[in-house]
Amino acid sequence: MNFIDLGAQQKRIRDKIDANIKKVLDSNAYINGPELTELEKKLGEYVGVKYAVGCASGTDALLMPLMALGAGPGDAIFTTPFTFIATAEVVQILRATSVFADVEPDTFNIDVNKLEDAIKKTKKEGKLRPAGIIPVDIFGACADYDEILALAKQYDMWVIEDACQSFGATYKGKKACSFGIAGATSFFPAKPFGCYGDGGMIFTDDKKMYDDLLSIRVHGQGIDKYNNVRVGINGRLDTIQCAIMLAKYEIFAEEVELRQKVAATYAELLKGVVETPFVKSHNVSAWAQYCVMHPKRDHIMAELGKEKIPTAIYYPKSLHLQEAFVSLGYKKGDMPVSEAIGEKIFALPMHPYLTREDQQTVASAITKAIG
Ligand SMILES: Cc1ncc(COP(=O)(O)O)c(C=O)c1O
Repeated sequence: MNFIDLGAQQKRIRDKIDANIKKVLDSNAYINGPELTELEKKLGEYVGVKYAVGCASGTDALLMPLMALGAGPGDAIFTTPFTFIATAEVVQILRATSVFADVEPDTFNIDVNKLEDAIKKTKKEGKLRPAGIIPVDIFGACADYDEILALAKQYDMWVIEDACQSFGATYKGKKACSFGIAGATSFFPAKPFGCYGDGGMIFTDDKKMYDDLLSIRVHGQGIDKYNNVRVGINGRLDTIQCAIMLAKYEIFAEEVELRQKVAATYAELLKGVVETPFVKSHNVSAWAQYCVMHPKRDHIMAELGKEKIPTAIYYPKSLHLQEAFVSLGYKKGDMPVSEAIGEKIFALPMHPYLTREDQQTVASAITKAIG
C-alpha cells in the first residue's frame, strides 16, 4: 500500500504528460514558455482571482508576497505553530518576527481568539508593529477567513493565505488561495495538486501585488532583466512542470471528489476507534493529509509498520520549539494545544485512488493494534 499513489494517477494521464513534455522539448522554451501562461490563466480562473504567478516552490510563493509587502525588521507576523517550517521560515529570512498563536484542538487551524490576544499583547508591548497574518489551511481545510480578515482590517494588517496544502479546497463556497492580499500554494509532488519536482503559485486580485511579484520572480527586474529596480530572487516555475500540470489539471476536479469519498470511508470505518478529522460544515477539504489522533499513536504506528501500512507524523514538533527559532524565545508549554496534538496525531495513506479494501485493511490493523 502506498501513502500517496502518484503511479496510479500517472497511469491515467501518461500519454498526455508525454505529449505535453515532448512539445516543450520541441520548442526549447524551458523558461517562461507558453505553458506557464496557460497554466496561470487556468488556475487563476479556477481559484477565481484576477492574477496568478507561477513560482519555484510553495516556500517562494510565501516569500515573494512578503517581499512585495516590504516585510522586514520590526514587523510582527502572526501565524500558527502547527505547520511546516516554511510558513515561519520565510518571515525569519526577511528578519521580520514570527509571533505564534495556538491552534484549535479539533481543526488544527489558528484559533482566532488566541490570534487576537497575541495581536493585542504585541501592540501593548510596543516593541514590534503588528504587520500581517499568515493563516495556514492545515491538511487541506481552510482557516476561518471571515473572522481573520475582519481582525486584519480592525488592526490594519494584511493577510497572506498559506494554501500550500489546500489547493482545491473551498471555504463558504469560495476557493482556497483566494483569501487576503495573496494566496500561496505548493506543487510539491505529494500535495493535492503536485508537479514532478518543485513548484508553486501565488494568487491575487491586487494589480500592484501582481506587478511586484512578476518583478521579484526575476531578480527584481524593471523594464527587462538587466534593469533591476529592487532585490528579488530567481523564483521561476519551469515550463516542463507547467506542461505536466496542464495534463494533471484535466483530472484534478475529479480527484478532489475522489478524495472526499476516501475521507468519508475512513470516517465511517474509524468511527469510535480513533479521533477522526473534524472539518467545519462550511469547508470542503482538499485532504492533503488524513490525520487521526490516539494516545497510543506510537504503538499503533509500529504495528501498522509491521503490516507494511505506511504512516507519518505531521507535526511532531511545533514550530515554537524548533531549534531554528530559539531566538524567538518560546518554551515548552507556550502553545499547549499544538504540543498536545503533536503527541497523538498520525497520518494515514491518503490519495484519490485508495480502495475501500485498502482502507478496510488500515482500519482493521488500527483496531487490532489498539486491542
Ligand atoms: C503549510 C506549508 N507551507 C509551506 C510549504 C512549502 O512548500 P514547498 O515545499 O513547495 O516549498 C509546505 C509544503 O511542504 C506546507 O505544507
